[in-house]
Amino acid sequence: MSQEAPAGRAIRVRSRRDLRAARRRRAHRCWDHLIAAPLWPLHGANLGTLLRTCDAVGACLAVPRLPWVPEALRRGNTLRSESCVHWVNDPCRWLAERRAEGTRILGVELAEGAVRLADLPMAPGRTVLVLGHEQSGIPPEALDLLDEVVEIPMIGTGASLNVAVAGSLVLYKLAGMG
Ligand SMILES: C[S@@+](CC[C@H](N)C(=O)[O-])C[C@H]1O[C@@H](n2cnc3c(N)ncnc32)[C@H](O)[C@@H]1O
Repeated sequence: MSQEAPAGRAIRVRSRRDLRAARRRRAHRCWDHLIAAPLWPLHGANLGTLLRTCDAVGACLAVPRLPWVPEALRRGNTLRSESCVHWVNDPCRWLAERRAEGTRILGVELAEGAVRLADLPMAPGRTVLVLGHEQSGIPPEALDLLDEVVEIPMIGTGASLNVAVAGSLVLYKLAGMG
């Protein structure tokens, strides 16, 4: 579809065929570089949204092995192929192990002393992005396992962003695509 832009430049929205041609034919394998970790999820829909962002930026998703999570991922995942999902039995233990092997553990949270999103550089190495529970945020016992925290500044009346929106913004920044 073509439309005349104010400056007189024609804008052509990419067609589905253009987009298909520009995309991978298969899902990326596990790059083990960026891992979005909503480890205390409440709403399944947010997991599906995060999975799509992970596919878009070449990240993996780490989720807790809770009985309802596989079905929530199946329902929320509108991608045609399998994405990279890491299953976590014990979130704090998993974070401690990742940290011990040299992975940076970056919390996404509204926290004092947090780095502002605009100042967050592209991830220099393997990074786990910890996202909090939709109502209570990152649990206190996990806060001690974070190397750093990033905050997305807000000027509206809402207390916080949707967790999938917050995770997606940070993933794009870490991937150097945003
Ligand atoms: C809806 S918020 C949780 C609410 C809030 N932390 C609390 O305890 O009331 C869910 C998660 O989204 C992420 N989040 C939402 N807004 C954010 C922001 N502006 N900056 C950083 N993280 C945010 C955090 O991971 C947070 O734990």
